[in-house]
Amino acid sequence: MNEMVEQDSLDSEVEPSNGKYDPRNKLNDLTSKEWIPETISVWNQKGLGAGHPDTKIERQHPAPFSFTDVARLIRFFTKSGQTVLDPFLGIGSTLKACVLEGRSGIGIELNPTFAELSRERLNTEVDDLFSNNTEITIHEGDCREVLRTIETESVDFVVTSPPYWSILKKQDHKAKQERIEKGLVSDYGDDPRDLGNMDSYEDFLDELGLIFNECGRTLKKGKYMGIIVSDFRDKSKYIMFHADLAKELEKYGLEMRGLTVLYQRHKRIFPYGYPYAFVPNIHNQYILILQKSAK
Ligand SMILES: C[S@@+](CC[C@H](N)C(=O)[O-])C[C@H]1O[C@@H](n2cnc3c(N)ncnc32)[C@H](O)[C@@H]1O
Repeated sequence: MNEMVEQDSLDSEVEPSNGKYDPRNKLNDLTSKEWIPETISVWNQKGLGAGHPDTKIERQHPAPFSFTDVARLIRFFTKSGQTVLDPFLGIGSTLKACVLEGRSGIGIELNPTFAELSRERLNTEVDDLFSNNTEITIHEGDCREVLRTIETESVDFVVTSPPYWSILKKQDHKAKQERIEKGLVSDYGDDPRDLGNMDSYEDFLDELGLIFNECGRTLKKGKYMGIIVSDFRDKSKYIMFHADLAKELEKYGLEMRGLTVLYQRHKRIFPYGYPYAFVPNIHNQYILILQKSAK
């Protein structure tokens, strides 16, 4: 008898190999050991690899993010069963991550082809679409209109990657030429409501500010937003899009909590500028982490 009591108390003191879950943790389902590595400010972007069969649909979008990276964010910023919103859904990477992680997801996409491919992707690439009582919704349309229909303080995490101004329309974009040669679309289309078709960078930033303010309205108090962007070049000028956007969002009370560098190791290196000038191969994105006030 005594031996059993001793064994029991010993077991409760042994920490599981993946660390302990702290009952005070209101943010996610992670243990101490799972939490800490996620706070390191540089991540290697983790894709499926070019030969994987599940890249067939993903490839049809010119700028998808990796659903595995988004899944990491979703695991950190939500608990199982909570709700995630992506106002620029593209080919549905966020919703694929939601299903895999047992979260509900709402996605908005303007381009009907991408919205349809998102549906196809969920139907073919993930099992158990409606397990864990979660719900997946895809809205086709302009996020400026659809966001108005989403209830105030109903969302636990916003994660998205907006268009990077009109960078995909720019002539000197090498990746664009390669996609055209392979018969793949190289931008999001000609719809004037597409933020990637705006001429003025200042107007584009204003518009993004208004959209993220609206996303902020749908977020519960004290919850987070993760925005994945890259800096870019406009001819020879280097545009610090991540910094401009963070500044813009401060106006709406969305406060920067951190910046994670997403290193894109797989990207091809082009001899930009050689042998005349310094022109960077931009091989990283940034994840802006912002928080809505808890008050
Ligand atoms: C950078 S991509 C997002 C890619 C997405 N993260 C993925 O993994 O597929 C931006 C998307 O925003 C969409 N978009 C542009 N303007 C929009 C608008 N006003 N409302 C909704 N979606 C819009 C584009 O069609 C494009 O698919």
